[in-house]
Amino acid sequence: MSATPTLIGEQLVKSFSSGKTRQTVLNGISLSILPGELTLIIGPSGSGKSTLLSVLSGLLLPDSGTVHAMGMELSRLSAEALDRFRLEYCGFVFQGFNLFTSLTALENVLLPLNYGPKIDKAVAVRRATAALELVGLGNRIKLRPMELSGGEKQRVAIARALVKEPKLLFADEPTSALDSHNGQIVIDILHHIAQEHGTTVLGVSHDNRLIKHADRVITLEDGAVVKDQRARNMLEAA
Ligand SMILES: Nc1ncnc2c1ncn2[C@@H]1O[C@H](COP(=O)(O)OP(=O)(O)OP(=O)(O)O)[C@@H](O)[C@H]1O
Ligand SMILES: [Mg+2]
Repeated sequence: MSATPTLIGEQLVKSFSSGKTRQTVLNGISLSILPGELTLIIGPSGSGKSTLLSVLSGLLLPDSGTVHAMGMELSRLSAEALDRFRLEYCGFVFQGFNLFTSLTALENVLLPLNYGPKIDKAVAVRRATAALELVGLGNRIKLRPMELSGGEKQRVAIARALVKEPKLLFADEPTSALDSHNGQIVIDILHHIAQEHGTTVLGVSHDNRLIKHADRVITLEDGAVVKDQRARNMLEAA
């Protein structure tokens, strides 16, 4: 594949101190993530998956090493520029949904459009409705979170992450609160977004059943990449 990577980490090191002990969580990781693909990071609990996602999305600065995202070196950006980078280029999906309970699905998805350049209300509603239709919830837009199933709530959270059409979509354990059927639907949506919109989709998952739906699977152990496989090779190996 000749696509240019949209996300490049080089020699990423990150440690955390608690009391007198210092734990190295990312141990010199280098990796490049391509647009138009769903890349999944897997590995044991505590292996550094969420930390890697935070570093690659600029939520956390590494102790050393660099991240280039959409051609920008994140450590060179000011705090304000980093906030702008995330607002403009990044969408985030987490396992807890984080929806506002008093707002309808549509209102939840409209929220991110209040930040950044002002857009016409009718245009915003059209875009939010389109994002909900993309995740198969076109007939649920007036419902509140308590009236939605877990899988539907997660799809609202994905629609909210997508409404600004981010170039980079980060998803930390987006399926862990879901049963396998709903987990599969969510993974299919993430895959579709990567393929149809050319989005760079980087997910973290515990769920080994989801691996076969990814284009690429990167395995972390003790803060290092121990395996990096493409879907085609995984099938051949099976
Ligand atoms: N802010 C922090 N302060 C101190 N230690 C931290 C911090 N964030 C993470 N850690 C430690 O870093 C290690 C890796 O954490 P991380 O959340 O990246 O793991 P993970 O692979 O996502 O695990 P899980 O699968 O359980 O979500 C853990 O041992 C954790 O305790
Ligand atoms: Mg984690």
